[in-house]
Amino acid sequence: MSEDKLTVLDHPLLQHKISLMRDKNTGSKEFRELTAEVALLMTYEAARDLPLKQVEIETPVAIAKTNVITGRKVALIPILRAGLGMVDGAVSLIPAAKVGHVGICRNADRKGVTDYYCKLPFDIKERDVIVMDLMLATGGCAVAAIDKIKKSGANSIKFMAVIACPEGVRALRENHPDVEIYCGALDDGLNEDLYIVPGFGDGGDRIFGTK
Ligand code: URA
Repeated sequence: MSEDKLTVLDHPLLQHKISLMRDKNTGSKEFRELTAEVALLMTYEAARDLPLKQVEIETPVAIAKTNVITGRKVALIPILRAGLGMVDGAVSLIPAAKVGHVGICRNADRKGVTDYYCKLPFDIKERDVIVMDLMLATGGCAVAAIDKIKKSGANSIKFMAVIACPEGVRALRENHPDVEIYCGALDDGLNEDLYIVPGFGDGGDRIFGTK
């Protein structure tokens, strides 16, 4: 399903894997593996519009006029900490990508976010950026991360989350209307603890086994 700047990826393999991630009985080893697999499949879709140029390559039989990716390169930027779980899957598909990191967390009063770390590729202006987090919940961390990444000069940014909800999509659209959003599921919304419902609980804890 694709609406204005929001693509909900409905591939059966992706849907199946996200269902396994949702299961509270899925342990962190399996959750981590599933996260990497889902990130790979999502990256495949998010990279669909990478520009191509035609080249000639000599096969054992003849000269083939065939396509290779050209022009701008890719930067993958996970939001710490849960977004880290998506890096391996994405890098396995785009091995030449550079990887930046943005550390942002919600404040204890849940009223805002604090950014505590940022290290981005020096040539980010020349790259197509894919920002990734496991969940797009209130959108506070995603908006702040993209603010920072734009300040460093990036001008082509996509955002990828395994599960999103309407509140987060709205916040991202209002603050960064140029950013395309890719998710594997658009859930019902947030509960009073700001967890996505039904979601899969605390993404960082599920990946790293910290609870
Ligand atoms: N962050 C999480 O880890 N889980 C949610 O449901 C929402 C935000």
